[in-house]
Amino acid sequence: MAHLFNRNVLLGVSGGIAAYKSAELVRQLQERGARVRVVMTRGAQEFITPLTLQALSGNPVHTELLDAGAEMGMGHIELARWADLLLVAPATADLLARLCQGRADDLLTTVALATPAPLLLAPAMNQQMWRDPATADNVATLQGRGAHLVGPAEGEQACGDVGPGRMADPAVIADAADALFTGGELSGKRVVVTAGPTREALDPVRYISNHSSGKMGFALARAAADAGASTTLVSGPVQLPTPDHVQRVDVVSAQDMLEQCLTLLPACDIFIACAAVADYRPAAVQDRKIKKDAQETSLQLVRNPDIVAAVAAAEHAPFTVGFAAETNDVLAYARDKLQRKGLDMIVANDVSDTAIGFNSDQNAATVLWQGGEEALQRASKDTVARQVMALIARRLTAG
Ligand code: C5P
Repeated sequence: MAHLFNRNVLLGVSGGIAAYKSAELVRQLQERGARVRVVMTRGAQEFITPLTLQALSGNPVHTELLDAGAEMGMGHIELARWADLLLVAPATADLLARLCQGRADDLLTTVALATPAPLLLAPAMNQQMWRDPATADNVATLQGRGAHLVGPAEGEQACGDVGPGRMADPAVIADAADALFTGGELSGKRVVVTAGPTREALDPVRYISNHSSGKMGFALARAAADAGASTTLVSGPVQLPTPDHVQRVDVVSAQDMLEQCLTLLPACDIFIACAAVADYRPAAVQDRKIKKDAQETSLQLVRNPDIVAAVAAAEHAPFTVGFAAETNDVLAYARDKLQRKGLDMIVANDVSDTAIGFNSDQNAATVLWQGGEEALQRASKDTVARQVMALIARRLTAG
């Protein structure tokens, strides 16, 4: 699950003993790829310091509604607009009541009124307070207005009581937040990714190939599936497990790969060519093992079809993304390739840097399209893949 990837989560912390669990919640949200900012009520600051949440979230914690300094930076309206989700954990009985009344007497309740983002509440309070009809009515009203609820859990409480009212575990809350985004930014889209090397046979036992590990293509397929796309991976020979929710078609040669891609084309909205396709293949494949009788020999090679160019040139072509692995003048060559192959987007990386590329688990790239580009810093191939997917989603809606 990584539906929270690249999402802005505004975490509201109100004043209950469960506020200490908010620190772990920040981490859980970040592990799922979310950017987190924190708003604390005055009461919350009695239980956990803003400094703790600031250190964990990597962002200043917001506490005051009327704070000239804060308003100069990210004021309450900017915060409200920034949020993709407002998550209140813990949500105390008092906070639920104030949200219910539409009060705007502190920063958190004001942001709650000002944001168009969905609201997820993780209530935490004494079991009798939770059972009180006033709280029950408030919760029902908030749910009626579209608020989502996670928990509370049952069990032993800080006050010694046993019953419902404990804040749900941070991992459970983070999963509930994640689940709100399962629609995904590529939901309903059909993505085809090519990955790995191709093998071009010389005879029954030998072939020409390259060192592509397939890791980047597999990461792209994983990211596409996580973004909600129905995803097919057309893979050359690699030693990698198929990512969850991805359909895999194994191929060997460039011609096999082209054939499979063209078959998939009518049901493809986004085509991502990450495979390191062999540029040439032997002109003829010997049907018997070639003997080493001669002192010298030579190979006649012919050009392989350019798969991504063929896809981009097809009638009703999908949004087509290529890769450019270069050792010098990376961006200039990539832009040229973007034009020449008729692509919508190209991901350029510098393969002269041994820390990234082929067999590495890391990558860094610049993504280029007609009239724009964005640099992606060195990170795991999974992270780079998710960023590429987010850019594709953005370009799709822009175009
Ligand atoms: O021309 P070059 O190999 O540098 O282009 C790289 C891009 O083109 C990659 O996206 C690669 O997957 C794709 N490609 C292809 N078929 C080929 C050669 C490259 O789809 N025969």
